[in-house]
Amino acid sequence: MSATTVDQAIERTAISGGTDGPVPQKGKDPLIVYRNVGKAFGKNVVYDGLDLEVRRGETLCVIGPSGVGKSVMLKLLTGLLALDSGEIWFDGDCVSEYHSDAEYLAMRRRVAMVFQGAALFDSLTVYENVAYPLREQFDLDESEIARRVTEKLAWVGLPGVEQKKPAELSGGMKKRVGLARSIATDPEVILYDEPTTGLDPVNIQRINGLILSLSERLKCTSVIVTHEMSTVFAVADRIAFVYDKKIAAVGEPEAMRTSRNSLVRGFIAGDPDTFGD
Ligand SMILES: Nc1ncnc2c1ncn2[C@@H]1O[C@H](COP(=O)(O)OP(=O)(O)OP(=O)(O)O)[C@@H](O)[C@H]1O
Ligand SMILES: [Mg+2]
Repeated sequence: MSATTVDQAIERTAISGGTDGPVPQKGKDPLIVYRNVGKAFGKNVVYDGLDLEVRRGETLCVIGPSGVGKSVMLKLLTGLLALDSGEIWFDGDCVSEYHSDAEYLAMRRRVAMVFQGAALFDSLTVYENVAYPLREQFDLDESEIARRVTEKLAWVGLPGVEQKKPAELSGGMKKRVGLARSIATDPEVILYDEPTTGLDPVNIQRINGLILSLSERLKCTSVIVTHEMSTVFAVADRIAFVYDKKIAAVGEPEAMRTSRNSLVRGFIAGDPDTFGD
């Protein structure tokens, strides 16, 4: 498909409109704002005019072809990558103007990231893995750390595995321990990067259920990057489709599934003819 046809096929959803929109306010909606964000790695332009708003308390699924920039989008928010232009806001604060590690650290206490691999420390026990962000980011006594570790392992359906090492766990269990570690800090926002990739259907369902129960328990906002449509349709309040260096469309699941935009519809349906080679 040529670039022109791609442009015509996508109905771009106007979201915030350049960098001169209203200034996001603390305590109000939207909680997270990407505004006209640009990001390139050398000649590889990943984003050129990324606009997206995430509402308080919603679960937003981010979909799009491999390599399009979904993981980069999460890393730009948490400061793991720096943007080239535009702005990113979190709860009324312009994150992209942060200069010190202390400012990013304060934000990361509120925003947890669940990485694609479970990324556990192999030499540490499950207990120490889950306790890790609590020790790093908070000054808590050991009884409060123990309470939180036990609570979070119970939430992910793994009570009693505290003394095991990651090598003793299955892939699905590791993902759940990774999740317990990310939520140990009771975050306001959870960013998930491919939480169900590589899992069997039963474990995918289990993680889908966990995502739903966590957003209810923590009353948190969730942004979930995923290729797994069963996850999208089980958990999403809205879906954002990344394509052609921006958010090409955003909307509620049913509207996206039946979109007039053939690329969105084709991607969701897994139609191999939509994107060609
Ligand atoms: N640290 C980096 N240095 C250089 N290029 C990078 C870096 N991180 C990402 N990229 C490039 O940015 C583009 C987007 O990568 P990203 O990992 O965000 O894709 P993705 O949509 O998450 O893909 P997937 O669905 O396969 O996980 C790719 O071309 C990738 O090679
Ligand atoms: Mg990725």
